[in-house]
Amino acid sequence: MRRIYLDYNASTPVDPAVAAAMKSFLEDHYGNPSSGHWAATTAKAALETARGHVAALLGCHNDELVFTSGGSEANNHALKGVFFALRDKGDHIVTTRIEHPAIIEPCLFLECLGARITYLPVDGTGRIDLDGLRRAITPRTILVSIMHANNEVGTIQPIEECARIAHEHGVLFHTDAAQSVGKVPTRVNELGVDLLSTAGHKVYAPKGVGALFVRRGISLEPLIHGAAHEGGRRAGTESALLAVGLGKACELALDLTPMDRVRTLRDHFWQALREQFGNRVALNGHPTHRLPNTLDVSFVGRIGAEILERLDGVAASTGSACHAGRIELSPVLEAMGVTPEVGMGAVRFSLGRATTRTKSTQWSNV
Ligand SMILES: Cc1ncc(COP(=O)(O)O)c(C=O)c1O
Repeated sequence: MRRIYLDYNASTPVDPAVAAAMKSFLEDHYGNPSSGHWAATTAKAALETARGHVAALLGCHNDELVFTSGGSEANNHALKGVFFALRDKGDHIVTTRIEHPAIIEPCLFLECLGARITYLPVDGTGRIDLDGLRRAITPRTILVSIMHANNEVGTIQPIEECARIAHEHGVLFHTDAAQSVGKVPTRVNELGVDLLSTAGHKVYAPKGVGALFVRRGISLEPLIHGAAHEGGRRAGTESALLAVGLGKACELALDLTPMDRVRTLRDHFWQALREQFGNRVALNGHPTHRLPNTLDVSFVGRIGAEILERLDGVAASTGSACHAGRIELSPVLEAMGVTPEVGMGAVRFSLGRATTRTKSTQWSNV
């Protein structure tokens, strides 16, 4: 079977250079980085070098990074960590309706503990309204959390402006950058954020590792209490193996030029679909403020999952999900006001570094 992988937003393959960097930590350097003897030396040094690579990509200090198990943990730590640390100050968090479940679910959990959450609406392209954000902030607001780029449609939010508005009101600002790191610039000082989440497996590192940026001076309640690993912010023996993988991936991601080629391929793909299907295809997401690799396209009047079934060997995602035998529009497309007729036919194609241009007759079947 021919295999075409167009699901890089779900997960990326591990870059061969990342795998090579990790190899000796799988085979040889087994020491606990916190130990005081020879077996720890290499692991500890590698952990800190890796932290430096992540810090270089994000433009932050090494001590502003906490290694996590991935994007979900980083998001949970940001939301719950701020909520528990700032309980005396307030109980209100502002986020958006189109966040990943790794934000929405912790918010729902915090609501059970008494938090009040505002879920900002978005326009038809998936962008929030800045005045709406301004109006949502109250004297009880302790955190604004707005994703950098949406995983489904790729829309990029005006994070700099959002962070500025939060700061004008003395409120902390977090962004979930799981999808944007390695695809667009994500330097924390340019974005102006206080907290930022990353996920290794979206940037050619393995699954099971990520990082949370926590600006100096901000103190979060840990999610995992225990020994004083990660500066007392996340207990558990650090994995030099996984940190080295993330560090190498971030080192590679410093060069964003491969994304120019990916964008060209993505645009070519969209052009080809338009030529073939005319107004029977519609683009979901912002036409320009969008990740360079993401093409979420609706086959109008069709069901995305059925289209994918017929595209033998093509790995991509659909925007509609089957719940209890019923096909439902994704919450993201619903929040964008996409009609069921259009949204049910959504398919997310996400390209990556290894995507190449090959001629295909595949599409005549759709
Ligand atoms: C925007 C966004 N945030 C968070 C996550 C969760 O990351 P992880 O799978 O590393 O927990 C994902 C993964 O799909 C994502 O796309």
